[in-house]
Amino acid sequence: MSCKVIIGTQWGDEGKAKIIDYFCRDTDIVVRYQGGGNAGHTVVADGVKHIFHLVPSGILHNGVTCVIGNGLVIDPELLMHEIVMLEKEGFDVKNFLRISDSAHLVLPYHKIIDEAMEEFRDKKIGTTKRGIGPCYADKSLRYGIRVGDLFDKEYITQRITNTLKIKNLQLEKIYSKNKLNLDEILNLVDKFRKRIDGMVTDTRFLLYNSLEKNKRVLLEGAQGNALDIDHGTYPYVTSSNPTIGGALAGTGLNPFDINEIVGIVKAYTTRVGEGPFPTEDNGDDGSKLREKGGEFGSTTGRPRRCGWFDVELLKYTKRLNGLTSLALTKLDVLNGFKKIRVSVGYSVNGKRLQHFPSQMLDKVEPIYEDIDGWEEDISSCRNYDELPENAKVYVRFIEEKVGVRISVVSVGPDRSETIVR
Ligand code: GDP
Ligand code: IMO
Ligand code: MG
Repeated sequence: MSCKVIIGTQWGDEGKAKIIDYFCRDTDIVVRYQGGGNAGHTVVADGVKHIFHLVPSGILHNGVTCVIGNGLVIDPELLMHEIVMLEKEGFDVKNFLRISDSAHLVLPYHKIIDEAMEEFRDKKIGTTKRGIGPCYADKSLRYGIRVGDLFDKEYITQRITNTLKIKNLQLEKIYSKNKLNLDEILNLVDKFRKRIDGMVTDTRFLLYNSLEKNKRVLLEGAQGNALDIDHGTYPYVTSSNPTIGGALAGTGLNPFDINEIVGIVKAYTTRVGEGPFPTEDNGDDGSKLREKGGEFGSTTGRPRRCGWFDVELLKYTKRLNGLTSLALTKLDVLNGFKKIRVSVGYSVNGKRLQHFPSQMLDKVEPIYEDIDGWEEDISSCRNYDELPENAKVYVRFIEEKVGVRISVVSVGPDRSETIVR
């Protein structure tokens, strides 16, 4: 039995999809477990770039089953678009995509409310406006509509009719927005039902049965540790648990099903959206990282904020998730930096903190150590031994400070640009 979880260790966009795609050569099933269309997961295969928002990043691999787990919130329009695009490219989505009947639907009012709430906030979160927060809120409020509901016409009509009454009141009276038309939403869900008919199932049992048959399962996290609703930099977080608890809740697996937890970590740090970011570099180095790393959001196109590696965040992530190894991505982006800064801890008013703080992260000062960089272009390296000595020093430095072995080093976006140690 093999079940590996892939978790983003920073503020998302660590290169999770690239590593998932790489691991797919030894995988039978890939499962998304939380989040929704806020995720933007990029895979570059043989020079062709694919960005996934809902479909698991394994779909490009022949014979790999891809599962959208119960923990997701699914925007029907977005998923239909992704399916159409993949089918146009010749991928067999019908036979290889499975969708949980318990996943929730992001409906048009969720997206409008997401945007309206941002407009009204004095301190903005900078959400992706994909309706994620309002949909998870409705799930908790028990207003949610689930994928399985689509197949009971009477029930879903009654439920959407009732919910829309409340949503239209909110839209009109609170946010001064236009009311939504019931028939349009009913038509949308009906179209969606027809499109995904044959792909919907109780994915929990699909996974139990697969593990019993010794299939190799990969759980694909979205977002990252510091965006976790419970453990992240609240309120500047997403509305789900990208951390290990979310992997269990969002699939129905139990802790003993899992044998590896791989943290994906960028060789520096980025964040998109608002909120504290202790190692952010607003100077030339930050701009250089953004330019060299192509740090623009895969979902919204926004420029990502860039800065240095943060050991304190990684130590927290390691503890929270029980990481068994790390995959270090985008090491090539550091080519040509004379000095590479690493924050090895935080201080407040000259006093060193013992751990990543749950409040006041905007008040901490990073404690930096500088590592000598390298001039060489490392993107053609395929063995660890081929890396320049200073790049190896950097890898070992992070490994030692964080206390988790780095088993994969990524030196470029393409699946071939990967070093396994
Ligand atoms: P995810 O959300 O964690 O899957 O990451 P994204 O796809 O949003 O962002 C990662 C970006 O970095 C994508 O454009 C990838 O193609 C790219 N990428 C991934 N790994 C590497 C790498 O090792 N080097 C470089 N230069 N780019 C990478
Ligand atoms: P992947 O899976 C980076 C950020 C948004 C915002 C906050 C809340 O590609 O790593 P939301 O729309 O979720 O309510 O926005 O979370 N955010 C991400 N940042 N990568 C992501 O996903 C993100 N998904 C959400 O920018 O700050
Ligand atoms: Mg992303």
